[in-house]
Amino acid sequence: MHIYLDNAATSFPKPESVYRAVMHAMREIGASPGRGGHRRSLEAGRLLFRARETIAPLFGIQDSSRVIFTHSATESLNMALRGTLKPGDHVITTSMEHNSLLRPLFSLRRQGVELSVVAAGGDGRVDPADVRAALRPNSRMIAVGHVSNVCGAIQDVDLIAAIAREAGALFLLDAAQSAGSEEIDVVKCGIDLLAAPGHKGLFGPQGSGILYAAPGVRLTPLLAGGTGGGSSAEEQPDTMPEGFEAGTHNLPGIAGLMAGAEFVQGVGAAVIGEKERLLARMAAERLAAIPGITLHGPSDPAARGGVLSFTMAGMDPSALAFLLDRDFDIAVRAGLQCAPQAHRTLGTFPHGTLRISPGWFTTSEEIAVFCDAVVTCVT
Ligand SMILES: Cc1ncc(COP(=O)(O)O)c(C=O)c1O
Repeated sequence: MHIYLDNAATSFPKPESVYRAVMHAMREIGASPGRGGHRRSLEAGRLLFRARETIAPLFGIQDSSRVIFTHSATESLNMALRGTLKPGDHVITTSMEHNSLLRPLFSLRRQGVELSVVAAGGDGRVDPADVRAALRPNSRMIAVGHVSNVCGAIQDVDLIAAIAREAGALFLLDAAQSAGSEEIDVVKCGIDLLAAPGHKGLFGPQGSGILYAAPGVRLTPLLAGGTGGGSSAEEQPDTMPEGFEAGTHNLPGIAGLMAGAEFVQGVGAAVIGEKERLLARMAAERLAAIPGITLHGPSDPAARGGVLSFTMAGMDPSALAFLLDRDFDIAVRAGLQCAPQAHRTLGTFPHGTLRISPGWFTTSEEIAVFCDAVVTCVT
């Protein structure tokens, strides 16, 4: 029995409707949206529109034309950061962020953007008061990950967004680990920029992602190139959303993402998140009883999403992950999970942790088999 516990990297399996939608886009549509007046291209254009209309209400987005399709959360984050920040602007972020957020910021810092990285506590949670204390007169953005991909710590995004609003700064939320498993309402929370992968909690195929930019947020496109319409202009248009989607769309990916978003809508993000958290908690309770094992992240389960990280004294997490894969066919993620600063914060740098991330299709039996396998490997 193969057991997949790496849904934080990409969700697997996908709902059957997602596989069908990908095949339908490839076999029955075939053409690209906005690239011709023929019926296949028009059908592709309609699919693109319906996909935006399906995804927007999941996040309380009122104008679906503010949803930009990207290829990953990484691309979304790069567009949000590079498309808004100028030399002299100040940005506040946290020590729990993924390299997809930190590396573009470090690169922008070399170009004159000022950066404050607020240290989270040893459990991975950021004190909003520390974010407030980092404000400067030129603070232009606060950029925070909703749920840590390392230890599942949930940040107090409502409070942090309110701090950004009061300061007149943009609030960018990296929802890579929360889109599809936490209720997110961009209007209620005050999110100006929302970056999310399509291929994790929204169940789309790899190579899909979205960026939402609130009305009034001025973005500069990341890429210049063909947009289908307005071809005579020399300059890249900055009209939403086409100006930000230069190049041929990943139509099969977007079709699958739409089906995935429909699935999430049908089940409910809160219900999905609750199941993932319950499974992570089951594992946490079993693992905590094994001598030598330390769990990382918030001890209060209410402050943790469905991601669980642990270490075993005297054992490299990569060695344990290797044994789980080789001997038990269990897929987990070991090491730094692309978030070295988060591991420095948790005290697990440089070897990192072993991370499990159950998904909607994970069963409690699989969690039990995983825990038994860990016991066998470490004793
Ligand atoms: C918190 C966080 N941000 C960003 C990303 C990047 O997402 P993508 O793989 O879609 O580029 C990830 C992926 O693991 C993540 O966990």
